Amino acid sequence: MGGYECEGYSSKEQFFTTYLQGSSRHISYDQFLSSHLPEKARCLSIASGRSINELKLIQPGRDIICTDLDSICMAETLRLFPSFRFVKWNCMEDALLPESFDFVISLGFITLLDADSLKHFLQRMNSQLTPGGTLLLDTASSADSFFANLLHDYYLPIEARCLLPFLNLYRRLKGRAALRVEFKHHGFRYTDDEIVAAAKNAGFTLENIDYMDFENEWDRSLIYRHFLKRVPMLRGLFLQLGKRMPYVRMFTFRSKRL
Ligand SMILES: C[S@@+](CC[C@H](N)C(=O)[O-])C[C@H]1O[C@@H](n2cnc3c(N)ncnc32)[C@H](O)[C@@H]1O
Repeated sequence: MGGYECEGYSSKEQFFTTYLQGSSRHISYDQFLSSHLPEKARCLSIASGRSINELKLIQPGRDIICTDLDSICMAETLRLFPSFRFVKWNCMEDALLPESFDFVISLGFITLLDADSLKHFLQRMNSQLTPGGTLLLDTASSADSFFANLLHDYYLPIEARCLLPFLNLYRRLKGRAALRVEFKHHGFRYTDDEIVAAAKNAGFTLENIDYMDFENEWDRSLIYRHFLKRVPMLRGLFLQLGKRMPYVRMFTFRSKRL
């Protein structure tokens, strides 16, 4: 599939070091899924991409079918994880899968959906679950948070336009390479209430919301990455402040169908 490299597949250890350990988002998913997914549950993962978190759970024997628009590094994945099962499936348009699942897992997907598509998606996922089944869903960046909005709308643009040129001038004088601002795409940002209301309309009840990954938003700041991260004491302080703007919010919804 476009844009995906097949490096890091020499061994299982290299795979998880390359794709899981370096990503606070995937580490958060791993912590969440390891404690919320019952061992015997029959699971469907939609838009699984490289299936990083799913493979971590398939390895010790969890029952998960992965799906996406297309497979990624299929031969390499099967060589390392022979029990990997993948179905090419457009979760928005294709006919529903012939079997029902106890759990549907959606990671890093609904930020791609506008409000109407989100409604359509939630209805389809409800139909794909066994009666009373569970949908585990995340969304990135907290649109509810005053601090996250301040960072997005004011601080980061100022940092990119005003601070970066001075920092790069200093670096040039020192003979160092220029730094670049990394643009992260958050896609559609929803508040907790918006997601819960959409899920209720699609026939779900909310069981829980878990807030995770308190560094990802800070990490978007150049100043944070290049100075503060190197001072462990300050990092602890920023992680505490980051609790006000969690990057990963995991929702547990139960289907009302009985
Ligand atoms: C941001 S990636 C998330 C991948 C993975 N779940 C993760 O968290 O690392 C979004 C994925 O959604 C998939 N996708 C987009 N539209 C889709 C659709 N209609 N049906 C199934 N997958 C879709 C893309 O192919 C891509 O792999």
